Amino acid sequence: MATQKIHIFDTTLRDGEQVPGCKLNRDEKLLIARQLELLGVDVIEAGFPVSSPGDFAAVAAIAAQTRYATVCGLSRAVENDIITAAEALKSAKYPRIHTGIGTSDSHIKFKLCTTPEKVLERAVAAVKLAKSFVEDVEFYAEDAGRTDNEFLARVCEAAIRAGATVLNIPDTTGYCLPSEYGAKIKYLVDNVRGIEHVRLSTHCHNDLGMATANSIAGVLNGAQQVECTINGVGERAGNTALEEAVMVLRQHPYLNFETGINTRLLAETSAMVSHLMSMPVQPNKAIVGANAFSHSSGIHQDGVIKHRETYEIIDPREVGMPDSAIVLTARSGRAALAYRLQKIGYDFDRTSLNKAYASFLVLADRQKEVVDEDLHVMVEQEQLVPVG
Ligand code: KIV
Ligand code: ZN
Repeated sequence: MATQKIHIFDTTLRDGEQVPGCKLNRDEKLLIARQLELLGVDVIEAGFPVSSPGDFAAVAAIAAQTRYATVCGLSRAVENDIITAAEALKSAKYPRIHTGIGTSDSHIKFKLCTTPEKVLERAVAAVKLAKSFVEDVEFYAEDAGRTDNEFLARVCEAAIRAGATVLNIPDTTGYCLPSEYGAKIKYLVDNVRGIEHVRLSTHCHNDLGMATANSIAGVLNGAQQVECTINGVGERAGNTALEEAVMVLRQHPYLNFETGINTRLLAETSAMVSHLMSMPVQPNKAIVGANAFSHSSGIHQDGVIKHRETYEIIDPREVGMPDSAIVLTARSGRAALAYRLQKIGYDFDRTSLNKAYASFLVLADRQKEVVDEDLHVMVEQEQLVPVG
C-alpha cells in the first residue's frame, strides 16, 4: 500500500498565540515562522490579519519571508476580514485564506443569532469572496464537533461548490470522543459530494485531553491534514500538539502515513516556542518534556540499561532530545547506581557496590535526586576502592 502524506498545518502563531500572556511581537513571530519552515510544516497559519494592525503586519512579513510553506491567514465569514486577509497575504508565494462560520445549534442560536439557512448562505459567500483573491481557500465549520452531521455535510458540500480546497472540521470545544470524531470524518467522506477533490482537515482542542487522539482518529478515517501547535499551546487547554501527532504517525509505520516533518528539530522548536512565549513545557509532556526520556525507578532503569527499547518507544535522538537519562533517586536499584558510577569512572566489585548502595540509599532518602558530585563525595567518604 502506498504511503499517504498527511499535511501538517501549524497554527502556533494564530490559535497558539491566543493564549493569555503568550503574545509575540513581529520579530518573534518571524523567528518562529522560519523555524516552522525548517521543521517542514506544510502550512503556517500566521495570524488573524483583521484582528489588529500588529497581526496584519506580522502576517504580511511572514508571507514575504516564507519560501516553501503555504502561508495562511484567518478570517470570519465577514467581507472586511476576507479582504484584509487577502491584502496581508499579497506577497505570499503560496497564500491561503482560512474562512468560516459556526455551524452548531449553539453557535447559530446564541452566538450568531441567525438560522441554519443564513449560515449556509454566509459560508458560500465567504468562500466565493476568498476565492476571488486566492486559489487556495480553506473553509472551517466552527464547532463542527457538536454540529449535526447532516447539516455539517450540507455546509461542506456547499463550500466545495463555492470553491473551497480544504475543509476544516474543528472540534472547537474539545468535546468529541475519538470514536465520535472519527465517525464524523467518515460520515463526511461517505456523504459529501465532491469531497474527493478537497482535503479534509482535523482541528482539535484539548479540553478533555483528547486532542491528539481525536486528530489521529480523524486521519484514520480519511482526514489528510492535521492542524496543531508546537507544545500543544492554544486557547484554554490548547490544541493538538504537533510533536505528538507527528510522532504517533511515525511510530506506527504500518499505518502507512508520513509527514514532511524533520523530527530531529522537534526539541529545539519546542524550546524556542516555550522561551519566546514564556510558557514552560511541563516535565512530563509527551515527546519534548524534560522527563520524556528519564528513568528513575529501579525496575525500569535495569531494563533500559540492558536494552533501551524495554521502556522506550522512541529513540530520543529522533526528536532531538538528549540521550535517555538514568536519574538516581531512592527508587533506583544497584544496576542504575553501578551504571552511573561507571559513567564517572568508578568500577566496583560486588562487595564495594553493596556498600556504596547502602550509603547511596541513605543519601537518596535525604534528597530528591543524587547527582554526580554527590557520588564523588560518597566514594571518597566511604573510602571505596574501584577495581582495576
Ligand atoms: O477552534 C476553532 O474552531 C478554530 C477555528 C477558527 C478554525 O480555531
Ligand atoms: Zn481552534
